[in-house]
Amino acid sequence: MPFKFIHLTDTHLAGPGLKLYGLDPRARLDAAIADINKHHSDAAFAVVTGDLTHWGDAAAYADFAAAMAPLRIPHVAMVGNHDRRVACLDGLKAAPRDANGFVQGTRTTDHGLFVFLDTLDETSDAGEMCAKRLGWLEETLAKAPTDVPFVFFMHHPPFPVGVHAMDEIALKQSAEFADVIAPYRSRIRHLFFGHVHRPISGSYGKIPFSTLRGTNHQVWFELDANAPHLASHEPPAYGVALIDQENLVVHSHDFLDTSLRFPFSPPEGMDDRDYALNFPAR
Ligand SMILES: [Fe+2]
Repeated sequence: MPFKFIHLTDTHLAGPGLKLYGLDPRARLDAAIADINKHHSDAAFAVVTGDLTHWGDAAAYADFAAAMAPLRIPHVAMVGNHDRRVACLDGLKAAPRDANGFVQGTRTTDHGLFVFLDTLDETSDAGEMCAKRLGWLEETLAKAPTDVPFVFFMHHPPFPVGVHAMDEIALKQSAEFADVIAPYRSRIRHLFFGHVHRPISGSYGKIPFSTLRGTNHQVWFELDANAPHLASHEPPAYGVALIDQENLVVHSHDFLDTSLRFPFSPPEGMDDRDYALNFPAR
């Protein structure tokens, strides 16, 4: 049985009862949690990679805590550019905290050390990893036994993804970050991030990465730097990761999808081709 965990991102709770861009972020998070409870309560834990709230208000963190309370598995709450560190740490027991007060931490699993990073700069939408945070990361990686692999989680991608407006607000210290992880690259099995509100996967150097849609609004797919940067009502998703000694597989699930589900096989006595061509079967 592979080890299973859940990736959620960019929940953007605005505050109790408040809609955001015409959508209800709390209702959507509730729907995601209900779906995870129903289908994935065997997962080890869930990670929410930041932008938990839209404006960083205490009331929105209380709303987030209330939404996550029914989740049957533990979760880790991280910060993104829309969050506020003190309000997050005050409001959420699930937010890790390092010795310098950053929302960073680790979780030991049978498949390596999971590392949660704080890339929040409260004065900018771009990501930041200051010397203190990079120092914590360096120390954390250095003290792990050499046979232990790592799985990384952060809000901002440390490299451009090609969506120009999002690349302008990626991690500022991408070079410094790359330097710190350089000696450990072969041990980093995967990098999960948020921020981009789009399903994207690939590799960062030789490190596989994935990100996915948020649970509220999305960012429209646009690679033309001169085209307008638009948000969208594309469907929300959460990720389900399966990891064993060999492989790490990430599924993206559109949990609000209500489109038709049907068997591939025809009803008994019906020809396969007839079923497919004259669907639905009479
Ligand atoms: Fe976001």
